[in-house]
Amino acid sequence: MRFSVKRAVVPLLTLFGVYTLTSALYQLLTCPGKVPRTQMRSIVVRNWNQTQYRYNQNTPMVFVGGVPRSGTTLMRAMLDAHPDIRCGEETRVIPRILSLRQGWGRQTEERWALEEEGVSQEMLDAATTAFLLEVIARHGEPAPLLCNKDPFTLKSAVYLSQIFPNSKFLLMLRDGRASVHSMISRRVTIAGFNLSSYRDCLTKWSNAVEAMLSQCMAVGQSRCLTVRYEDLVLQPRATMQRVLRFLNTPWHEGVLHHEEAIGKPGGVSLSRSERSTDQVIKPVNLEALTRWVGHIPADVQEDIENIAPMLRRLGYNPKANPPDYGQPDPEVINNTQRVLRGDFKSPTNLKRQVSPKIDSKGGRN
Ligand SMILES: *[C@@H]1O[C@H](CO)[C@@H](O)[C@H](O)[C@H]1NC(C)=O
Ligand SMILES: *[C@@H]1O[C@H](CO)[C@@H](O)[C@H](O)[C@H]1NC(C)=O
Ligand SMILES: *[C@@H]1O[C@H](CO)[C@@H](O)[C@H](O)[C@H]1NC(C)=O
Repeated sequence: MRFSVKRAVVPLLTLFGVYTLTSALYQLLTCPGKVPRTQMRSIVVRNWNQTQYRYNQNTPMVFVGGVPRSGTTLMRAMLDAHPDIRCGEETRVIPRILSLRQGWGRQTEERWALEEEGVSQEMLDAATTAFLLEVIARHGEPAPLLCNKDPFTLKSAVYLSQIFPNSKFLLMLRDGRASVHSMISRRVTIAGFNLSSYRDCLTKWSNAVEAMLSQCMAVGQSRCLTVRYEDLVLQPRATMQRVLRFLNTPWHEGVLHHEEAIGKPGGVSLSRSERSTDQVIKPVNLEALTRWVGHIPADVQEDIENIAPMLRRLGYNPKANPPDYGQPDPEVINNTQRVLRGDFKSPTNLKRQVSPKIDSKGGRN
């Protein structure tokens, strides 16, 4: 009797042990991210010459963002000029989906109601991942490194870093007085920003950049890089070298001449609806650097440290009009002279015009 029980139990225990070990090993080998391979969607896109690209949520990709009017379009155009990288136009839907997803995850009645109804957070993550991947992979030509530029996505950098475990982030920073002068003078509607008030816009700029910077810091230096707009236009070569090194992508001289790649296959695709288009058709130049000087109302100027505390935190002297942003490279001075002579006009191969409006979730309506 004793022997037969033992004989039955020992192989059973052994079998159970082997099963546990195997399944643990399987999990370890097949699941580098959070989602098991069986659930992982893969997207195949072909380029003009039928080269096939396959993307899934573990594919490396880069998200470019920042407060609007901080050089996000210039950065993405320069990256687009690299043959191995494609950003493309703003998608507008991605920040909206991220904002909805965030709402469903908050500890509110909504979340408990969803759980009751069998809609789990894991399900919502898988659906969000599939949606984002589909849009990012298919809204432009395929490339070895996919990039997305919707300014407000950087508010969700932590979430994105989890659902796309090999993604990286570029956070564009700029003197808030310049960003705000640009949105006001160019009438770039951004929901929540009152374009009749420098005080209101500078307050909102400070809050938004603070939120994005804290997300960037939470993601960590190995995956989120901050880039100053001023450095990008004054020293484009050194700045782009730093960016491409961060993205583990080889140097390509073309990134310094993005204006020559506009409308070309594998180059920079621009839409007329994007408000920065008339600026990025020009080479990197110094036109926009200090245009804000003399436009900040005196009462706002006096109270600037309280209105926009992030100016000082980011190293932009709030008392200087303008601060010393640094010395320009000779090639940038040359570009600026050519731009001032009027050498650059809107090319004819841009896409159709629609009326633009940016909402605070990052998209435009
Ligand atoms: C097609 O693309 C691949 C990779 O991008 C390249 O190596 C190849 O030379 C291209 N073929 C033609 C005909 O351009
Ligand atoms: C926007 O700012 C202006 C100037 O301060 C103010 O008169 C107006 O009421 C504000 N609009 C809104 C919607 O808050
Ligand atoms: C300025 O740029 C133009 C066009 O790239 C070039 O032909 C010219 O030689 C440059 N001039 C100087 C002084 O670098």
